[in-house]
Amino acid sequence: MKNWKRYTITAALPYANGPKHIGHLAGAYLPADIYVRYLRAQKRDVVFVCGSDEHGTAITFQALQENTTPREIIDKYHVLIQKSFEQLGIEFDIYHRTSEPLHHETAQEFFLDFYHKGLFKEVTSEQYFDEEKKVFLADRYIMGTCPNCSHDRAYGDQCEKCGKSLSPTDLINPKSTLSGAVPVLKPTKHWYLPLNEYEPWLKTWLVRDHAKDWKSNVYGQSKSWIDAGLQPRAMTRDGEWGIKVPLKDAEGKVLYVWFDAPIGYISATKQWAKNTGNNWELYWKDSDTRLIHFVGKDNIVFHCIIFPVMLHMHGDYIVPDNVPANEFLNLEGDKMSTSRRWSVEMHEYLHDFPGKADELRYVLCSIAPETKDSEFTWKDYQTRVNSELVAILGNLVNRVMVLSDKYFDNQVPQAGECSDLKAFITTQRDKISEAIENFRFREALAEMINVARHGNQLLSDKEPWKLIKTDREATAIVLYDCIQIIANLGILCEPFLPFTSKKLFAMLNLDERNVSWKDAGRQDLLKPGHVLGKAQLLYQKIEDEQVEAQIEKLKKTVAGGNKPEVITKPVEEKKEDKAEITYDDFSKLDLRVGTILTAEKVEKADKLLKLSVDLGFETRTIVSGIAEHFKPEELIGLQVSVVANLAPRKIRGIESKGMILLAENENGKLVFVSPNQNTASGSVIR
Ligand code: 2FM
Ligand code: ZN
Repeated sequence: MKNWKRYTITAALPYANGPKHIGHLAGAYLPADIYVRYLRAQKRDVVFVCGSDEHGTAITFQALQENTTPREIIDKYHVLIQKSFEQLGIEFDIYHRTSEPLHHETAQEFFLDFYHKGLFKEVTSEQYFDEEKKVFLADRYIMGTCPNCSHDRAYGDQCEKCGKSLSPTDLINPKSTLSGAVPVLKPTKHWYLPLNEYEPWLKTWLVRDHAKDWKSNVYGQSKSWIDAGLQPRAMTRDGEWGIKVPLKDAEGKVLYVWFDAPIGYISATKQWAKNTGNNWELYWKDSDTRLIHFVGKDNIVFHCIIFPVMLHMHGDYIVPDNVPANEFLNLEGDKMSTSRRWSVEMHEYLHDFPGKADELRYVLCSIAPETKDSEFTWKDYQTRVNSELVAILGNLVNRVMVLSDKYFDNQVPQAGECSDLKAFITTQRDKISEAIENFRFREALAEMINVARHGNQLLSDKEPWKLIKTDREATAIVLYDCIQIIANLGILCEPFLPFTSKKLFAMLNLDERNVSWKDAGRQDLLKPGHVLGKAQLLYQKIEDEQVEAQIEKLKKTVAGGNKPEVITKPVEEKKEDKAEITYDDFSKLDLRVGTILTAEKVEKADKLLKLSVDLGFETRTIVSGIAEHFKPEELIGLQVSVVANLAPRKIRGIESKGMILLAENENGKLVFVSPNQNTASGSVIR
């Protein structure tokens, strides 16, 4: 393996338009942080960059829907996400923003470099425009019927039912999801990256250099994209929000978010270098620098194809040496999704489990979707914390601290003859190193825990609490060894469990700055007579009620459409006296699943919201008296139950066709009656 002089480690810049969930954490940020902590423990030269990705059509359209500005949305989430990362111990050297002028300049320089070298293709094409909202529509914001499978909610880029990739013009009956209007085609000019021309370079680079050292999921996905043939891809968009295309004839055009976002890694490095007096160019242009991108599965193509081509086209830059992307983490049997509210957001976890960052890091690393999708369940979280962190690591440390205090006055005992721990811990250290270097973090973590297991084994074999009665010297040897094991664990667990590591060093009264990765294996990290620090509890058991409350919260959230507090008091059932009906009476109701497309307040009516609801066969306007309970923006995309054959009524001059069903508790709190999983609009409820 090459002897790298320095490392540039990037973690995908999260879109700052909403909170990030634990799937994102497991996919990219946690493995990146573990890797970087490991490099730092080895005193290697490394910069770790991340920050907010603030552009893109998703943010623009979200602002339109929520009647606010992109800036207002991102300012809020930039801070929330950054704080969550900090509290989870994800330690970037810089958390930058793509709205910073330095980033705009850097991205525009890249664009102009390509432009002046004549590398772009300029293409004028017809694209859908929403005449009501006066915007060109990104593919995702057009919906219609799939020409392949007739699914009536296919997106302009893909049908999620049959999986077919689509262009917006393939859709039958296209509609703007912003206004419900039928979009019109308008000509517009854009600058395209001719990816097809770089196919030979990409193929050689990927197949020759990385067939062996990239993870198979990443290599496989990249290779199949290339094998399928690459098409030129537009690097500009129509719109106002983003980085202006730095050309005279490009009024109203901005850089495509996937052009500017990865350049964000470079501008972040520039800012870090400015702050710290480093030379950023060494980290991006020197062939002895190892560039590694940590991303989730959905970002593979951008980091393994598009960005490397951009770096190569520019000519001065190094290309990534690895992109160890993870697959997806599912949650309790379903895909994790913030918009469907089936997720555990990082800040929510931190709120509900204060001081338990390492517990989450531990569980997510143990189940990380390294080679295939994996699953987080609250029960499994509880089991892993209780039977591994508490029962193995916590228990070892607790017993050793208590016994050392009791028998040896809280000092490292004078051990005459030590058993040979060195070989065992050194082997473990090397196994952990090898696994981390090859991005097998689950395995590395398991080997770290094996060190603690070994300590527990030693205690149960030797039983120092009995031994002390007959052989003080032998007891001293056992505890001496166990203290050295804990000190080694302080080093070895740091990449995975940084908060635990800090506590261990404090308990041992050992200055962490005096040890590094290569010290792991030493049997004399603490000398006899060294006074230990104060014992503290490392972990607490997770109780059944805690995980049950989380599961309950998830179910309520997904059904209710807003984030409820955990309800502890059961709602008393009230039986209303209504006349009995026959099945025939019931069957007169046409009950359907609907999906709320838009929601807005009705002027001068505090209680009313005007909703457009997709019923599959048509989109209805329904006026609902829920404005005091829900914000319009919370409702977009929510699936609800609709009485579809209720006679139309005029409410405040608006014709309302149908009624949405809600449940009301005794305090008057409303929740929607929603299907418990995503269901096609128009599905009959019976
Ligand atoms: O998927 C995302 O959240 C993107 N914002 C990732 C961008 S990664 C990089 F290119 F900045
Ligand atoms: Zn389809």
